[in-house]
Amino acid sequence: MGPEPQKVLDYHGDNAIFMVWNFKPGIAVKDSFQRVCALVINLNNSAGNRFPDSGASCVMGIGHDAWLRLELPTPLPEELENFAPVIGEKHTAVSTKGDLHFHIRGTGKSLCYDMASAIAEVLSPVATSVEEVHGFRYWDGRSILGFVDGTENPQGKDRAYFGLIGDNDPAYRGGSYLFVQKYIHNLAAFKALTVEEQEKVFGRYKWDDVEMPDDIKPANSHIALSNVGDDLKIIRDNMPFGNMSTNEMGTYFIAYASTFTTVKKMLDNMFIGLPPGNYDRLLDFSTAKTGTLFFVPSATFLDNVASGLPALETGGANAEDKTGKLPGDGSLNIGSLKK
Ligand code: HEM
Repeated sequence: MGPEPQKVLDYHGDNAIFMVWNFKPGIAVKDSFQRVCALVINLNNSAGNRFPDSGASCVMGIGHDAWLRLELPTPLPEELENFAPVIGEKHTAVSTKGDLHFHIRGTGKSLCYDMASAIAEVLSPVATSVEEVHGFRYWDGRSILGFVDGTENPQGKDRAYFGLIGDNDPAYRGGSYLFVQKYIHNLAAFKALTVEEQEKVFGRYKWDDVEMPDDIKPANSHIALSNVGDDLKIIRDNMPFGNMSTNEMGTYFIAYASTFTTVKKMLDNMFIGLPPGNYDRLLDFSTAKTGTLFFVPSATFLDNVASGLPALETGGANAEDKTGKLPGDGSLNIGSLKK
């Protein structure tokens, strides 16, 4: 049997909490990581058992540097590295550090809050919370800019095809690349546009969410540049957020993909432009404040770590890496969670 994925393919609920944590320097972190792996499994099982209709789930991603510090299996997932900034003539997709990422979603806020709070309790002694965004469903799934976000996402069985690693990296089957960016919008400038001008920014009509015909859709519209082909898709689960007192209105962009190359191609088109210089008009109203690549291992991997087993053990064909050795063997051999 193949590894069980984390809940990366879930459809989003009405609420989300996104958290990025960085390990403190110079201290041992493996025990806390082991505890947090057990906690993530526990939180998902408990939410499913207690509130089966809550849609509540928690997905954990691990950054490149944390992977090395935790001595997780080598070879690493093929495309796991520190995100290199994408620098266009006018706009830059910045790169920021992140050791662990938590994507918590649910219909109600209470479960999301409790999950975040439980994670913070375990991590606080060894890590610092560097980003926390509380996202909410805005009307019929609109971004805070007023356009419906998520319509062209893969649906049904396509989600697993585009969202999860399969034969492209068999040792990490069931895993996923997670890329996040926190965008702040210049809402005043966007609102100053007429609705027709706003629609040209996205390449879609505002109220009915219909795509513009190709002969009308501007070449620098968001969907003209982010659509890189029917065979190259990602799973997006963006959420808006807003704070009146700090005037920070934004979009937490979050994408899962079976390969990071697809996300990178979209970012190149948006920030550098296609052809170069024809960058995404959406960026004139949106500034990326963060940008981090994580790897989301399977739930089986987290379970193994929690139980002190080799992380990649599946008990089946997937237990072997490309060299034929048991991957992860002995690399995270820390004791049991049981007190
Ligand atoms: C400023 C942050 C962003 C906002 C507010 C935003 C919003 C939107 C909206 C409203 C749509 C149209 C409806 C839909 O199909 O979802 C869309 C489409 C899309 N966006 Fe974004 N987006 C943002 C950033 C990004 C980034 C950074 C990427 C990729 C790295 C991306 C990739 C896509 C893709 C692939 C589509 C579907 C294109 C298609 O096939 O028609 N978006 N986005």
